Amino acid sequence: MTNETKTAELHVDGKTITMPMMEDNAGFRAVDIRTLWRDARVYTYDPGFGCTVSCQSAISHVDGEKGQLLYRGYPVEVLTEHCTFVEVAYLLIHGVLPNQAQMEKFSDLFNSHSMIHEDMRTFFRRYPERAHPMAVLSAMVVSLSSFYPEVDKTDEDIDMAATRLLSKLRTIAAFSYKKSIGEPISQPSHKLSYCANFLNMMFSSPVVDYQIDPIIVRVMNQLLVLHADHGQNCSTSTVRMVGSSGANLYASVCAGICALWGPLHGGANQEVVEMLERIHREGCSVDKVIEQAKDKTNPRRLMGFGHRIYKTYDPRAAIAKKICHEVLARLGKQDPLLDLALGLEAKALADPYFVERKLYPNVDFYTGIIYRAMGFPTDMFTVLFALGRLPGWIAQWQELKRDPHQRIGRPMQLYTGPMQPAFVPIDQRT
Ligand code: SDX
Repeated sequence: MTNETKTAELHVDGKTITMPMMEDNAGFRAVDIRTLWRDARVYTYDPGFGCTVSCQSAISHVDGEKGQLLYRGYPVEVLTEHCTFVEVAYLLIHGVLPNQAQMEKFSDLFNSHSMIHEDMRTFFRRYPERAHPMAVLSAMVVSLSSFYPEVDKTDEDIDMAATRLLSKLRTIAAFSYKKSIGEPISQPSHKLSYCANFLNMMFSSPVVDYQIDPIIVRVMNQLLVLHADHGQNCSTSTVRMVGSSGANLYASVCAGICALWGPLHGGANQEVVEMLERIHREGCSVDKVIEQAKDKTNPRRLMGFGHRIYKTYDPRAAIAKKICHEVLARLGKQDPLLDLALGLEAKALADPYFVERKLYPNVDFYTGIIYRAMGFPTDMFTVLFALGRLPGWIAQWQELKRDPHQRIGRPMQLYTGPMQPAFVPIDQRT
């Protein structure tokens, strides 16, 4: 810590409470308030936790002012350019990039864990055809603990638990898609890499010999890397909260999947494309859409815009925007939704409402257009976000378990209900 203060003082009820100041490796500081209730009999109030640090973590760092995202110190731009998703998953979980031997062992585990128990396949038959794949994904993940109870063993090798979940989630995601279109599933192949396997399970069929395009495989890797971790976002905090009670990895990740599903979080990538499709279908002008987004009486926000941390361009959105152009060119596709998105971005970034509030495109603004061009249905977009975020959830859950400072998560509240109203027996109540 440089010449900045090393403590913070709180003056309350004539007392001065002195609390230590903490500083992280990026120069971000926090007041350590852990003794505040003991010393001053007061809590701090922070709904949405916008000003609250819940843990110390070495996994990723987000600088919202600089528009910077680091995974174990490496800029996301570098990893997206030079690494596969499995390499980045190893980095997040182990803290270092794998050497060749470690990579081969890790990849072999993915392969041996890629199938799901045959009895789990019957679950798919019981879902209605239009079941949202996020509902299927969350239910199947928590069911894994019934088929693989070793997850509850405290000494289970993290690579086994991690690769089992990473590999099976990919299979479950593809199976849920096949179920939704009434097609037979395509089993994973030991000859294919993680992303090629996923694309093949998604799009090959007995009557279509799916041609695996190495460019599209690279793009799939890049998109999953973009989503791999992001500090203490809503779903990661949920995974930590559930894990803090001692719940196993599958139960914790199931909760994270449910949190991610919300339209304000991972569900936004689906909302963005549905918003763009509606605008295109109704022929709304960009001006009208921007005015609606600014109108507080109108529930429609500009989905894919704004972020709790980024007050400048989300670096992931910049990468996704570039990939969008590349994929459409590779597939020889024109998508009017991209032109619409570009128009909305240009208009919003010049509008005082968005400028004053520092609202920029976030990771969800362009990714849905890419997924759509790749052939994924809209309701699979958040599943793809979950696939990408899974190594981050696993790494964060594991870090929680190893953190000596961590206790069960249990925030306080300010009570606004009645205080001991007179009790009236039921036969005397009006
Ligand atoms: C993700 O946390 C993470 O890291 C998440 C994530 C990750 O990798 O895990 O990055 C992934 O979830 C990205 C965000 C995806 N969600 C969306 O795109 C939904 C649209 N965005 C918003 O709903 C909003 O920006 C949030 C939810 C992302 C952030 O909400 P905050 O931080 O609580 O901000 P806020 O709602 O308090 O907004 C501040 C102001 C408000 O206006 P005023 O009250 O000051 O007048 O900005 C306005 C908001 O009305 N605003 C928007 C807006 N986002 C914020 N106005 C119009 N359109 C928007 N999209």
